[in-house]
Amino acid sequence: MCGIIGYTGSGDAVSKVKKGLGILEYRGYDSAGIAAETDDGIRIIKCTGRVGALIDKLEAADTGRSTCAIGHTRWATHGAPTDVNAHPHRAGKTVIAHNGIIENSGGIKSLLSGEYSFLSETDMEAAAALIDRYCGDGTADTDEQVQALLSACGEMKGSYAFGILFDDRPGEIYAIRRGSPLLIAQGSDGYYIASDMTALIEFTDKYYPLAEGECAILTPDMAAVYSDGNMRRPKWRKSTVSAEQARRDGYTHFMEKEMLEQPQSVKRAVSVRVKDGLPDFSSDGIEPEFFSKFSKIRIAACGSAMHAGRMGIHLFRDFSGLECEVSEGSEYRYYPPCDGKNTLMIVISQSGETADTLAALRYAKSAGLDTLAIVNVPESSIAREADRRLYTHAGPEIAVATTKGYCTQLAVLWLLALSAGIERGFITEKEGRCGVENLLSGVPDSMSDILSRRAEIRAAAEILSRHEHVFFIGRGYDCAMADEGALKLKEISYIHAEAYPAGELKHGTISLIDEGTPVIALSAGLLTPDKTAGSIREVKSRGAYVVSVGGAEDSADLRISLPETSLAGRIFASLAAVQMLAYETAVLRGCDIDKPRNLAKSVTVE
Ligand code: G6P
Repeated sequence: MCGIIGYTGSGDAVSKVKKGLGILEYRGYDSAGIAAETDDGIRIIKCTGRVGALIDKLEAADTGRSTCAIGHTRWATHGAPTDVNAHPHRAGKTVIAHNGIIENSGGIKSLLSGEYSFLSETDMEAAAALIDRYCGDGTADTDEQVQALLSACGEMKGSYAFGILFDDRPGEIYAIRRGSPLLIAQGSDGYYIASDMTALIEFTDKYYPLAEGECAILTPDMAAVYSDGNMRRPKWRKSTVSAEQARRDGYTHFMEKEMLEQPQSVKRAVSVRVKDGLPDFSSDGIEPEFFSKFSKIRIAACGSAMHAGRMGIHLFRDFSGLECEVSEGSEYRYYPPCDGKNTLMIVISQSGETADTLAALRYAKSAGLDTLAIVNVPESSIAREADRRLYTHAGPEIAVATTKGYCTQLAVLWLLALSAGIERGFITEKEGRCGVENLLSGVPDSMSDILSRRAEIRAAAEILSRHEHVFFIGRGYDCAMADEGALKLKEISYIHAEAYPAGELKHGTISLIDEGTPVIALSAGLLTPDKTAGSIREVKSRGAYVVSVGGAEDSADLRISLPETSLAGRIFASLAAVQMLAYETAVLRGCDIDKPRNLAKSVTVE
């Protein structure tokens, strides 16, 4: 949600910032802007629309050569996506790009309205003015400037990551964060700031993630970090993100590429945690007796990650006998459940930066619970703050709608449930071994099978693409998968989709089933296919058009069969089917698949 990039050095700053913004666009894409130091001072060029529109405007503006610039791509929170509201903003001598929400911006604006005129509806203009007031007198040395910046930020409530230029400090970029991600990096010809490493893939792999409240100053030939009143040189880390992972590689969409990567992604996420055919999380810091402390699992997450959590309810129950409940990240801290101290809190997040999930994690920690994160992005806030972390190793996920992110979360949860079950004696080692084998070979094979049957799935997509309302039904695991299938369809095709427990539909919602209403009935689970078949008959007799995924029910209008394999193989195959169904439907409707309207990949505000 909102992407920031900046560069200072001897290279061409505008071209580097443009390139980085193109990659960061998935974090927000309603408007974009650049502030570049030029011979005529700092020039700000910004506009509504995609980064492509900004690039056209930049070319027309001819900024000349610049060696220090910051850029921003926006997902609007305060104020509509307009040219004026786009970042960066100027207040006095200060020019800022911001990611986050300044909750007391109204108060700051009224306090400073005599000194500054506020032109936009954004919260960040208030932050810019406050920072300028503290930092803008031009006489401070670097230490004093940093102290002034920290004091200004101390007056702000909410979350922020700032990239800042000052008129009277040419070549210097200031960076500071609290609650929103920001890193600094060292390249061969200068230094960078960025919201995440994918933006810098082409320039460097040496980075340092700023911790909460840390401030950095970059000049063309050095970087320094201020934390707890001390200045030090950053200890660079090496990023494992590779340029090819973040390229589309001839695929029409990132989502298509990422969906097709899933069989390999599952293998990778699981194989690094298998020893002698059994789950082994020792390299993740999970000791053999880990689960003996817990009598319950609480999962908190948002969006698809929360749906992966709902799968966890079934996995922990069936494989380990542990009670598992799921909370929406946004609800957990305001309406905390009555969990005892022997509850393990698992937070799940692809980005590791989702504000509501992070807040749930912090709340659980403050309540004294042990915490474990299932997360894709290394060094993300959630990864750093959880007591333990399990990386999903999915690589960079660029499409806004998650596929391989969710898929690897599910794989890791599955393995974890098997591990807990073996440890607790709920399943035998033999059963655990068989579960591992299914994840390592059965699951990739059955996913590949479905992913290769696109023509079949496209036939169902053709039906869906002509409707505005679709239902997904299923029981147990299939019910949790229905949630994910419906969300995927909503996110990228803008069709209203509702997930329902198959047996619950008749208690009211069946009144919405009309002639031709598409109902996707999921039957990957092995326990209740007959019951779901009954639900199919109920909706069929009210005129529904039924697409059955994995069911044997003859009355379905269209059947997508699933491989005759293990439960895991069938569940992951049905995941591939609902993802591909959403994708093909969105293609048929001509939607912007990788950047759906109103969404952002990483929601770093509450
Ligand atoms: C956003 C995205 C969703 C995603 C959710 C959680 O809302 O649009 O697709 O599932 O965030 O993201 P996370 O990074 O925490 O998994």
